[in-house]
Amino acid sequence: MGILDGRAAVVTGGGRGIGRGHCLHLAEQGASVVVNDLDGDEAQKVVDEIGEKGGKAVVDTSNIATRDGARALVQKCVDSFGAIHALVNNAGNVKDRSFLKMSDEEFDAVVQVHMYGTFRCSQEAALRMREQGTGGSIVNTVSAAHYGNFGQTNYAGSKGAIASMTYTWAVELARHGIRVNAISPSGTTRMSASAKVGGKVVELPFIDPNQNGAFVAFLCSDEADWVTGQIFGSGADRVQIVSQPKYATAMYLPGGLSVDGIVENFKKVFGKNLENVGLMKNPYPFYDGVKPAEGK
Ligand SMILES: NC(=O)c1ccc[n+]([C@@H]2O[C@H](COP(=O)([O-])OP(=O)(O)OC[C@H]3O[C@@H](n4cnc5c(N)ncnc54)[C@H](O)[C@@H]3O)[C@@H](O)[C@H]2O)c1
Repeated sequence: MGILDGRAAVVTGGGRGIGRGHCLHLAEQGASVVVNDLDGDEAQKVVDEIGEKGGKAVVDTSNIATRDGARALVQKCVDSFGAIHALVNNAGNVKDRSFLKMSDEEFDAVVQVHMYGTFRCSQEAALRMREQGTGGSIVNTVSAAHYGNFGQTNYAGSKGAIASMTYTWAVELARHGIRVNAISPSGTTRMSASAKVGGKVVELPFIDPNQNGAFVAFLCSDEADWVTGQIFGSGADRVQIVSQPKYATAMYLPGGLSVDGIVENFKKVFGKNLENVGLMKNPYPFYDGVKPAEGK
């Protein structure tokens, strides 16, 4: 007996890394799982592993970045298991390049998979969940990179968009019984091997990528039937809420905003209160001015 007995779930990019862990945990909790991945061989290994443990899973190799792929993926779940109750948008790629050098192709390749893939798969799944009348759970995937990370305009921008889409869909889909949350996972994977902070490759301590799956299984289950519109950091031994951007320090000028009033008061109010910049959450470094580096 598991918390997902009788449910059908789709995991995009489930053939390796973090998505593989999602598939294993969902199946262990009783869900039938569509393991989607462009890499069919890796997806088949996950399906075999689930089968060996007595679970049910099928491979799907649709390209989730396309409308046809998203539609075919959801249809595969319905054809295989009779319905779709959960969608985990996990598939991802990176094409890092500093902003001034990034090409349209590099930008588009990442936006298509993360942002459009999440949009298209979620829309296809939610339409089906509404038609079924069963409700359901969508779990999106963001990253701390969406706070801003050197070389990741395409990736950070897509993850920020996914965070905002998560909040928006939670508002729109609750009336259909569909919950929408996101995780900001962690794990040592093919993708994390190329992780850069401040433009430099960083070697991170090993984190088992499978461990995000336990939390994803929880979010997909009725145990979390009151949880929607939330983003959680997950992985290793931790689940941590990611707070939404919100209005903070304010300046009020009696009589309304004027350029003179702003020039006179801005530094007094915000001179120690600007937000951190970038993924590492270092204190604001530019109070003395943003100036060209020497020799640039
Ligand atoms: N690894 C981390 O620490 C970390 C941190 C933050 C966020 N993430 C996010 O977690 C998710 C999984 O990352 P990962 O580290 O496991 O990466 P990974 O590269 O190991 O796995 C991603 C999988 O997605 C598949 N994929 C890519 N494009 C696809 C497409 N168009 N259609 C179908 N499948 C596709 C790939 O074939 C691959 O198997 C991504 O969304 C990533 O942005 C990872």
